[in-house]
Amino acid sequence: MKAEGIDVISFAAGEPDFNTPDVVNEAAIAAIHAGLTKYTPSSGTKDLKEAIAAKLARENGLNVSPDQIVASCGAKHSVYNTMQVLLDPGDEVILIAPYWMTYAEQIRLAGGEPVVVHTTGDEEFVPTLERVAQAITPRTRAILVNSPSNPTGAVLPLQTLQGIANLAQKHDFWIVADEIYERLVYGAEHHTIASFSPEIAERTITINGVSKTYSMTGWRIGYAAAPLPVAKAMSNFQDQVTSNPTSFAQKGAVAALNMDSAAVEAMRAEFEGRRDLIVSLLRQIPGAQVPEPRGAFYAFPNFSHFFGGEVATDLDLATYLLQEAKVATVPGSVFEGAGHLRLSYAASRDDIQRGVARIAEALGKRTA
Ligand SMILES: Cc1ncc(COP(=O)(O)O)c(C=O)c1O
Repeated sequence: MKAEGIDVISFAAGEPDFNTPDVVNEAAIAAIHAGLTKYTPSSGTKDLKEAIAAKLARENGLNVSPDQIVASCGAKHSVYNTMQVLLDPGDEVILIAPYWMTYAEQIRLAGGEPVVVHTTGDEEFVPTLERVAQAITPRTRAILVNSPSNPTGAVLPLQTLQGIANLAQKHDFWIVADEIYERLVYGAEHHTIASFSPEIAERTITINGVSKTYSMTGWRIGYAAAPLPVAKAMSNFQDQVTSNPTSFAQKGAVAALNMDSAAVEAMRAEFEGRRDLIVSLLRQIPGAQVPEPRGAFYAFPNFSHFFGGEVATDLDLATYLLQEAKVATVPGSVFEGAGHLRLSYAASRDDIQRGVARIAEALGKRTA
């Protein structure tokens, strides 16, 4: 529609709309000029792994050696490697829904089975430990924890994370913690599960990357920090699949990890302002249920109030809003969050104002 010249406002983006910081760009350009354009060790350069280890110690209270780190082509790739090395056919991985759909597909690609724990907006998408415990079977191999969450913006409280860690310890399964949105929290605190105790660290794979925090989605640098045997298996696996992530992108990632945290805080603060704006505008729509997103850059309102007639599902509603309001959203069903739409507020304040006004008008027609 955009290509046809139609003024579509998009809330579909899964990436920050800021430029990559100059200091990062310059480090990568300098690396190219210095000839760092060849293969590196498959699991990443020594200086990148050292910068990641230093970051994990400084910001996450996690002490790992560079040998325990595998740098990959994005956190998505790190999750994929993790599933490939942890799962045997028929192994189960607990997912807390709504979840990023890639997890379920990557579990299946490794021969595993997702076992879903459902949560609702009323509980701000935080599962009770009883429900998590009910999902455990003799085939449970891992639980995937994504806090802050895509698509809900939920940030799991410390008690929930500790309870999950205790269950993993008691029933002997792995924890895969995708912490890619850790720096984007608003009045909530992020906790790194692997830092809880050495015993928990021994069963946790921590996944992160530079995409979201530093606005570097196109650079494709993510990483996993894992117990040594898992890290070695992931490194061997990656060696046969992609080899190293791009050499000069790794240099950019080192610059990002070492850059002044004030620039990161400025981006976080801007997202917080946009979050406040979109949440307050959405809450003015009668019938919309809008849970408080405490992290990442997504609002996940429940719009099932507006279903009826030809618009029976969130998929229909997303299509209706695109056609009627010229606003792009992502239907919640793709994340096992039926009834909801995901609205990314990685958009300008002007687009947020205009876009939500259009949504309100189109939804108003459905209840008129
Ligand atoms: C929860 C979550 N994990 C990982 C990723 C992927 O990040 P990367 O760009 O590092 O592959 C995304 C991107 O949308 C995400 O939402």
